[in-house]
Amino acid sequence: MSTPPLADALVLFGITGDLASKKLLPALAKLVARGELNVPVIGVARSPWSRASLLQHVGASLEAAGVRDHQVLAELAERMRYVQGDYADPCTFDRLCQALGEARHPLFYLAIPPDAYERVMAGLAAIACAAQGRFILEKPFGRDLASARALNGFLSRYFDAAAVLRIDHYLGKEPVQNLLYFRFANAFMEPIWNRHYIAAVEINMAEDFGVEGRGGFYDQVGAMRDVVQNHLFEVLALLAMEPPIAPDSESVRDEKVKLLRSVRPLGADAIVRGQYRGYRSERGVASDSEVETFVAMRLDIDSWRWSGVPFLLRAGKRLPLTTTEVRVTLRHPPKRLFHRTDGIPSDNYFRFGLGPGQVRIDLGARVKAHGPSMRGDDVHLQFCRNRDDEMSAYERLLGDAMKGDPTLFARQDAVEAAWRILDPVLGTATAIHMYEPGSWGPEEAERIAADAGGWHAPASAETGPAA
Ligand code: BG6
Repeated sequence: MSTPPLADALVLFGITGDLASKKLLPALAKLVARGELNVPVIGVARSPWSRASLLQHVGASLEAAGVRDHQVLAELAERMRYVQGDYADPCTFDRLCQALGEARHPLFYLAIPPDAYERVMAGLAAIACAAQGRFILEKPFGRDLASARALNGFLSRYFDAAAVLRIDHYLGKEPVQNLLYFRFANAFMEPIWNRHYIAAVEINMAEDFGVEGRGGFYDQVGAMRDVVQNHLFEVLALLAMEPPIAPDSESVRDEKVKLLRSVRPLGADAIVRGQYRGYRSERGVASDSEVETFVAMRLDIDSWRWSGVPFLLRAGKRLPLTTTEVRVTLRHPPKRLFHRTDGIPSDNYFRFGLGPGQVRIDLGARVKAHGPSMRGDDVHLQFCRNRDDEMSAYERLLGDAMKGDPTLFARQDAVEAAWRILDPVLGTATAIHMYEPGSWGPEEAERIAADAGGWHAPASAETGPAA
């Protein structure tokens, strides 16, 4: 395969929006600081901004993200241009072409609501300067299996599949990358990583905040489309897939698709949806909204490796803390010779902390308690790394997209396989249960994990592992 050309310009549609401000501009500043961004950056949006207002926006976004290096700010500002216009107006795209000048391989980032994708992609298809470009789309990719296929059909009419990069920022996170690495770089993992040794797998994505001014967007999607179909299913795939034959992008992505295809589509009895009290009063949210801000589900994987092992997923907003964690519970020894000092049975487990801000692995084990009797205590052996210079997910993914490396982007077949699992339970196919902010969701969610030992609260980054 020939090496893809380096991008020679970056175009950000939606430069005035929340995503650009909170994630993309800070990531660009980091790339500038590392000397890895040396192409023009063109912001496109509808607001009638001058270049001065653009630069003010960039300065404020970086300030809010804690980037205070004046030299970096000056260098980024130097590279930035602004093109104002309506996405439905062909003149906007002509102006964009002028601003692109000699660039032949621009990278176009669509940081805009999904309902504007087709308009923008059709506009880009009509201009010659986009013909050899690459295009980053933000999730959700469609609203269900049918619309994901329709969107892809639309895109493939105009662009080569390899030019379309579907971004899922979870894939750019250091601890998520480490999951893949840890699983396949250590020989002790493979013999136990199956139904014979693993009793249950749990993935918790907890956030202690609500929709934070994004009510208008969130009320159209809900937790399943916002984080489960993409972030959590990517984590699931990395945890459960077969070893890839090589570390290249297609081999890894082939295994992920195979895994997602072996997950049984969800039935209504395997899922509980919740909504935090107060959600309906958030700005942009319908007063009778039935959209879920919490979801708990049990997945079954029909494969030789995982048959019979429950995979429990839980994600929610306004939960007690903010963290994402995987807990893999091992089966008990075939015969219990020893007891805990308090007599309570305990588990062996792996916990993988997926952030924020750290890479953490805990191995829960038992050791003999000090003293004359053969009783034991639970301990955890921990590896934990916090680094200030860790690359942010967007920084890594933007860098990869500029180089044309698709490894950390979702492939269309995986997107479809993921929708296939959720399709039967999307929308109001199941009831919504209210929960108190600060709790672990509605009580009804307990039944999902009842025969798998119940849910385990993830450890907070500050307090260390929970039981
Ligand atoms: C986004 C979701 O994709 O991921 C948000 O739209 C969620 O609702 C966010 O809060 C979580 O990502 P991170 O990296 O901030 O943990």
